[in-house]
Amino acid sequence: MDVNSRIAVCPGSFDPVTNGHLDVVRRAASLFDEVIVAVGINASKSALLEADERVRLFEQAVEHMPNVRVERMDGLLVDLCREHGADLIVKGLRGGADFDDEQPMAAMNRHLSGVETLFLITDAAVSHISSSLVKDVAQYGGNITDMVPAPVADAVYRAFGTHPPKEDEA
Ligand code: PNS
Repeated sequence: MDVNSRIAVCPGSFDPVTNGHLDVVRRAASLFDEVIVAVGINASKSALLEADERVRLFEQAVEHMPNVRVERMDGLLVDLCREHGADLIVKGLRGGADFDDEQPMAAMNRHLSGVETLFLITDAAVSHISSSLVKDVAQYGGNITDMVPAPVADAVYRAFGTHPPKEDEA
């Protein structure tokens, strides 16, 4: 590890990763030397996809981003940051509801270890996309193919036993 390099961690449950998450990671990768995507467990949510599958799908989605890697996070985010010498957390903010969720987490992480959280305002083109809405749409056979990478759409439809609408139904 280069002591001068700036490493940022993009944490989330990514259940599943969406084009909105990828926009934030892409922008973080242009701001920092290295970005570590930390795929974790949110104790207040139950996941559709297994953690290892969420990691694999994120890895596929960032294959073309040379300074981004993906790690599974089983413990505290601040411990992962310390282990990897990362001094910043980067997250996307879509609006006030996200702020309400993120503010206590950012304050807690800073309290625990001094690590700062930097928020990037989500691009308007993807600000309506969330993992939970993607799952809600897919569950009823709606079209998610323009909101997540293709392998992610396949995995989500498979998990629900549904499929995207046929061309003439779309
Ligand atoms: O995408 P999410 O659900 O907002 O991600 C939340 C996540 C996984 C980043 C958060 O729950 C987390 O950091 N979990 C790891 C355990 C931890 O550090 N908990 C204290 C958070 S202040």
